[in-house]
Amino acid sequence: MFTASQLLDKINNYISEIQFTREPKGLYEPIEYILSLGGKRIRPVLMLMAYNLYREDVASIYDPAAAIEVYHNHTLLHDDLMDRSDMRRGKPTVHKVWNDNTAILSGDAMLILAFRLMTAAPSEHLKEVMELFGLTTLEICEGQQLDMEFESRDNVTEDEYIEMIRLKTAVLLAGSLKIGAILAGATAEDAENLYNFGMQIGVAFQLQDDLLDVYGDPEVFGKKIGGDILCNKKTYMLIKALNRADEKQREELDRWLNADDCQPAEKIEAVTGLYNQLNIRNVCENKMREYYTSAMESLAAVAVAEERKKELKNLVKLLMYREM
Ligand code: IPE
Ligand code: IPE
Ligand code: MG
Ligand code: MG
Ligand code: MG
Repeated sequence: MFTASQLLDKINNYISEIQFTREPKGLYEPIEYILSLGGKRIRPVLMLMAYNLYREDVASIYDPAAAIEVYHNHTLLHDDLMDRSDMRRGKPTVHKVWNDNTAILSGDAMLILAFRLMTAAPSEHLKEVMELFGLTTLEICEGQQLDMEFESRDNVTEDEYIEMIRLKTAVLLAGSLKIGAILAGATAEDAENLYNFGMQIGVAFQLQDDLLDVYGDPEVFGKKIGGDILCNKKTYMLIKALNRADEKQREELDRWLNADDCQPAEKIEAVTGLYNQLNIRNVCENKMREYYTSAMESLAAVAVAEERKKELKNLVKLLMYREM
């Protein structure tokens, strides 16, 4: 059995050796650029870890593991365009280095490359894997659409927010784990419990991402702080702030949400100030802990010796306290 960091090294090496020898360069260079910036690689590592709960020959699923990471990076190219984000992994985003059209087309190419890599999964379970991958990637589009629609709504509920992040983020962590389990020949019940485990850590992961977007250290987080506030993203923190605000605070929040030509830094400071007054960081961290606890219950239900789950448990703990 391998540790998470051994699996990370393996998949990093594998991804760095994928060659894009095709032309034109303008299509493939941005792909090499985003993949070379690293990132945590948590989705392929989760897939390999789920597989490794049952089997040792992890090298036989490097292609589907790489596929999930290439797919994730495809979503980032498009997401950064949609969110007007200039920084990713401490470097300028693809649409900043090149332009919007490049982010669209190189992003499209990455989606196709991801599907090609996924079809190189061992043939025995290929149909089931492709069905799950197809559904997952479609759900992510649905989540991203909701995320954008919510920007211009001011009555988004907590349940709507959770459903939106389940779709845009959690299903990919869940799907990574389930694909690993399917490829390893796990029982349907185990595969489902690992899927639920991934879903719950995925929701906690996005709650943390939203929290770091306000309270993170930009040097470590690798993205600009306050981007979600500037886009009026209906994060858990904003929804909770709107619910908890007294009349005066609510008026102030509404004013910032409708301030079209304000100084970005002023808006970020003011909204963060309101979050601080309302103790929103704490409220968000409590919600994360709820999902973390449910995740551990789903993992406990997986019919594998507890000893073998230790690495997954450690990784999830690290993710809960992540700063990047
Ligand atoms: C960023 O994902 C997008 C979200 C779902 C929050 P990661 O935080 O996994 O980004 P990288 O791949 O490590 O850069
Ligand atoms: C991530 O949402 C969802 C996807 C990329 C599909 P965010 O928009 O919060 O991700 P970051 O913060 O830009 O990484
Ligand atoms: Mg974004
Ligand atoms: Mg986004
Ligand atoms: Mg974010």
